[in-house]
This record gives sequence, structure tokens and C-alpha cells, in this order.
Amino acid sequence: MKIEHITLVRTPEGVPLESDFAPGYGSLGALADGEALVRVHALSLDPYLRSAMSGRHLSAAIQPGDVVRGEGWVEVLESRHPRMAVGTHWVAACGWRSAALLDRAAIDAARPIASAIEPRTLALGGLGMPGLTAWAGFHRMCEAKTSETLVVSAASGAVGATVGQLARIAGCRVLGIAGGPEKCAWVQNVAKFDACIDYRQRDLRSVLRELAPNGVDIYFDNVGGDVLQAVSEQLALRARVVLCGLMANYNGPPAPGPNPGLWIKARATVRGLVVYDHWAHFDTMVQELLSHHRADRLHFREELHQGLHAAPAAFCRLMRGENQGKVVVRL
Ligand SMILES: NC(=O)c1ccc[n+]([C@@H]2O[C@H](COP(=O)([O-])OP(=O)(O)OC[C@H]3O[C@@H](n4cnc5c(N)ncnc54)[C@H](OP(=O)(O)O)[C@@H]3O)[C@@H](O)[C@H]2O)c1
Repeated sequence: MKIEHITLVRTPEGVPLESDFAPGYGSLGALADGEALVRVHALSLDPYLRSAMSGRHLSAAIQPGDVVRGEGWVEVLESRHPRMAVGTHWVAACGWRSAALLDRAAIDAARPIASAIEPRTLALGGLGMPGLTAWAGFHRMCEAKTSETLVVSAASGAVGATVGQLARIAGCRVLGIAGGPEKCAWVQNVAKFDACIDYRQRDLRSVLRELAPNGVDIYFDNVGGDVLQAVSEQLALRARVVLCGLMANYNGPPAPGPNPGLWIKARATVRGLVVYDHWAHFDTMVQELLSHHRADRLHFREELHQGLHAAPAAFCRLMRGENQGKVVVRL
């Protein structure tokens, strides 16, 4: 069977370029025992893929010549594995391909998409791995109390927007940090954060002092670098800092980091988050977020692109920080 795919042609230097990727055709062999043939309906583009392209992610490296790895929403066309019935829909490690043969390991790791999840692309974002990151980070690591001030960076992204909305639902005062007026407008008007700071237009430090005069109780960091430093300067006593992502570092050498003295001064608790540690809570997360979503308390934002050929440009856009919400490529 002939399929379309996208390969990485060279390891990106700095922010990835479309020319780092190439479209092509491949073929799939006959289905072996324990395998399933799936059609790919949509790809999830996630920042960790950039780290994997540099061999710096805890998953295996993506090397030049490889079909780009990654998860997607797939539908089973043929199956020789009891877990996957023909016609069912899953999130699985399919890679940037129009169709894929999943082996036993990929099938064991795949997650069925609950019929209640509509549209199914949400299983890649707010009700998928980024949703679990937000849910686990907020409920299991932030130790939030009502009326505390929570700040989250990359606030309009899949992780940041969900963290902020969960904090708002829990009664916290929520301040987002996002780049550009369009992102900030969505964060304030749709996700209903108390405020959103456009760090590209305004001086983050002075606005934080103005909006959080008694300090930041919880900082959920998706970015690292100077934003982490700036928020760390404004921490309240006994603050909690959840280190989730390092967007400022993925495209190159580490950005100048925060001064740990600031955490000592605030007697802060700083914790590192890895979503895979919380995988057992996936179903609980989906149930909770879905019920908030249906009650109009929780909103998801998706940036949809059309066609496999659009994946490289969409990924480069994500890594330039220009994405407006969870990036999904429909095939
Ligand atoms: N710890 C875990 O297990 C885990 C799991 C999933 C995701 N994550 C991390 O969570 C973070 C958010 O993920 P997401 O999927 O929701 O992505 P996202 O927030 O939709 O996209 C990334 C955003 O990062 C911001 N950003 C800040 N500095 C940047 C820079 N120097 N270059 C490019 N972008 C920059 C941009 O938003 P602004 O313009 O608004 O700043 C950009 O839109 C990422 O760091 C990701 O790696 C961690």
C-alpha cells in the first residue's frame, strides 16, 4: 500500500525551517500478526518533537531520514490484534503519515477516543496529553487554595489555557502571560482569566508588580528563561513553582536561567512535571474536563491545518510561538 509521509531531512538549527522537512511516498507491507493498519485523520504537533529532533527529549531522537514521529487520531482499517477492532478511533503513535502499520508496542500504548469526545481532535489537545499535563500539574502539584494568585505562561496554548481555567474554576485569581494581543484577548474573553499580560508589548516585571502586589502564590511555567526569572522575582512566601516546559530553550542553547536565590528567598517549592508520571489518571482527567467543557466553564482552542503537506509549516509556526491554540493537522 502506497502512503504519503514527511521525513526530517536535517536536524534543525535554531527555529526549524520548512526546508528541514520533505514530503515523500512510502509503502506499507503486509499486516503481520499483532499489528493493525490505520488511517491517519489528524496529527498532533507538539513542542517536545523539537527537542526530540535535537536528541534532547526523554523519548528517542528523531534523526535525519526518519519519518517524523508523533501521535495522531487514527481509525483502524484492518487489524490482527484483539485490542483494535476495525472502525474504532484511537490516539496512537502513527508518525507524520497518511496511513500506518502499528506494531504491538504502539497498540499497547494507544488510547481509544471516547465517543463523548467531539470533535475527536480534542483527544490530541485539551482532552489528550496536553490536557493531562494541565490537569495533573494543577490538581496534583500546585496545591492551590481559593483566592491564591496563579500565574501561567504560554497562557493561550493547550496546556497553559487549561491550567488557568482549572485554577479559575477552583477559585484562584488567574493571570496569564501570552505573546500578542490576539492571544491575550482569547485568554481574557473566552478562557476568562482575570488578566493576561502581553509580555511582548509590556514590561512583564512592572505589570506583575501592579497585578500581583502581594506576590504570586503559584507559577506554572511553560517557557523558562527570562519569563521564569521575572515571575520568580515576584513570588509570595511559600510559593509553588511547577516547571512544565522550556519553550525558550527548545530552538537553541538554554536561555539564561532564573536565579535560584529567588526561590530560596520566597521559601518556594519548585517541582518538575512529567506528564507520563500521571498517565493512570487519564480517564479521570477526561471526565472532569469534559464536564467543565459541556457546562461552558472550560474552552479549548485549536489551530487546524489541512493536509499532511501542511505539517512542516505548521510545526515551524508552533516553534516560532505564532500558534493560536493546540496545533492539529487534518488529513
Ligand atoms: N512536562 C510535561 O510533561 C509536558 C507535557 C506537555 C507539554 N509540555 C510543555 O508545555 C508547554 C506548552 O505546551 P503546549 O503544547 O500547550 O504548546 P503551546 O503553549 O500551544 O505553544 C507554545 C507557546 O510557547 C510560547 N513561547 C514562549 N517563548 C517562546 C519561544 N522562545 N519560542 C516559541 N514559543 C515560545 C508561545 O506562546 P506565547 O507567544 O504566548 O508566549 C507558543 O505559542 C511546552 O513548553 C511543552 O513542552 C510539558
